[in-house]
Formats: sequence, C-alpha cells, structure tokens
Amino acid sequence: MKDSIDDIKAILALRPKIAVLTGAGISAESGVPTFRGSDGYWKGKSAEDLASMQGFSQDPHGVWEWYNLRRQKLKDIKPNPGHDALVRLEELASSFTLVTQNVDRLHQQAGSGQVLELHGSIWPVRCMDCDYQEDRFQVDLPAEPRCPDCKGWLRPGVVWFGEALPFGIMEKADHAVRMADLFFIIGTSAVVWPAAGLAWTAREAGAKVVEINLEETPATEVAHISLLGKSGEILPQLL
Ligand code: OAD
Repeated sequence: MKDSIDDIKAILALRPKIAVLTGAGISAESGVPTFRGSDGYWKGKSAEDLASMQGFSQDPHGVWEWYNLRRQKLKDIKPNPGHDALVRLEELASSFTLVTQNVDRLHQQAGSGQVLELHGSIWPVRCMDCDYQEDRFQVDLPAEPRCPDCKGWLRPGVVWFGEALPFGIMEKADHAVRMADLFFIIGTSAVVWPAAGLAWTAREAGAKVVEINLEETPATEVAHISLLGKSGEILPQLL
C-alpha cells in the first residue's frame, strides 16, 4: 500500500485535475449505516425494497419510518477524517469535482465546494401531487407526512430506484470525469448505475483510477490502484 500511496502523492504534486465518486462507505465512520452491509436490511427489507416508488406505494408508512430513522441518525453525525481529507484534496487540485451518491450532505458540512448529489438529499421533501417542496431539517417527521397545500403524500427528495437523476447532473459528472487526470472511487459497492459507470468512463478517458474500499467491488477491475481499508484512515495518508 505504501508504494501505491507514494504513486498517488507524486501525481498530486503535479496539481492534477481530480474527480471523485463517493458512496455510503465514506460516511460509515461517521456512523451512517451503509445500504448493502450487514446493517443494510431494515425489518427484512433491502434498500431496493424501500427506496422505490413501488416500495412506497405498497407501504408509505414503513418507507417513511425508515427515512425518519435515517434522518434521526444523521442529526448528531459529523463529517469524519475521510470527508475532511477530500476538502484538502480539492485545494491540491487544479480542478476538482466531487460526485456523491450520498444523501446525507456530510461533504458540504465538511466544507467541500461544488458537490454533485446524484441521488438528491434526504432533507428536502416534496409533494407527490402538487409542486410543493421545501427543506425540512426537523428529524421527527410524522410517519405520514402530508402536503400543507393539498394534503397529498410528501416524499423525501431522494432519487429512488427506477427514477431519473436530477436533470443534467450526469452530464456534468461525466464531463468532469473525462477531463480528470486522477479519479477516486471511494466507499461504494459500485453496483448502482449510472453512478458506478463513472469508473469505466474514467479509465477509458485516460485517468489514473484509484479505488478505496474495505473490499473489492466490480470497479476493482478498472482500478489502477486498489487501496483496501477505511477511507477515513487511507485518505488522510495521501495528503
Ligand atoms: P453500499 O452500501 O452499496 O456500499 C457501501 C460500500 O462502502 C461497500 O462496498 C463497503 O465495502 C464500503 N465501505 C464501508 N465502510 C467503509 C469505510 N469505512 N471505508 C471505505 N469503504 C467502506 O452503498 P453505495 O454504493 O453508496 O441509492 O450504494 C449506492 C446506492 O444504493 C445509494 O446511493 C442508494 C442505495 O440504494 C438510492 O437510494 C437511490
């Protein structure tokens, strides 16, 4: 690992263009549960069961209970050294784009500048029947939150399985990745597309691809360097 870290440090000394994709693993050391680890199931349901229109239609109460639990967990949670290291990495780069699948806003809390939230954020709510939407930082929402305007169901401002990503966001991410000299893929199981595809795009476009994860993932096959371990421990070593 030391040789690999020295290689990355040598590239960083040249003020490269950097693009980063993060997933739930980068927030794990802050205490945010990941989606597919041992703590990934809730009442026997998977992320796919819960974070989907179908799941919501079948059991809106249960889906809100799950999101409320996640909102409560996030309330007292702080960014960890992995998030902090990405803020410092941004200062070393000649251009820097942080693409995240996370909806916890911990990158912004740490001080990262422009963050592309591919899957939205857990804090906004929007009405399923009318145009009403707002940020609600209150954690203990009722399990049946209703729109104050039309009494329709409110839903979290996250992107669910089968839904389109926010307009134009993937194009911005794709552009940044194609321009990058160095691409980091951190703390993601790399199974949810189109986010995971950015690793293949980066490799094809000529970036040096570095993966940081506790374990190998489908993206390991395109990584030039695979650093196995905790992002909160490995990322600070690069600086
Ligand atoms: P996953 O839960 O699928 O994967 C988390 C990854 O983080 C795993 O590969 C772990 O090995 C790794 N990991 C855990 N702790 C780590 C640590 N301390 N340091 C480094 N790596 C660590 O989460 P995502 O890949 O983010 O989408 O999941 C992708 C999407 O699926 C999410 O955005 C969400 C989910 O359903 C939606 O809700 C639409």
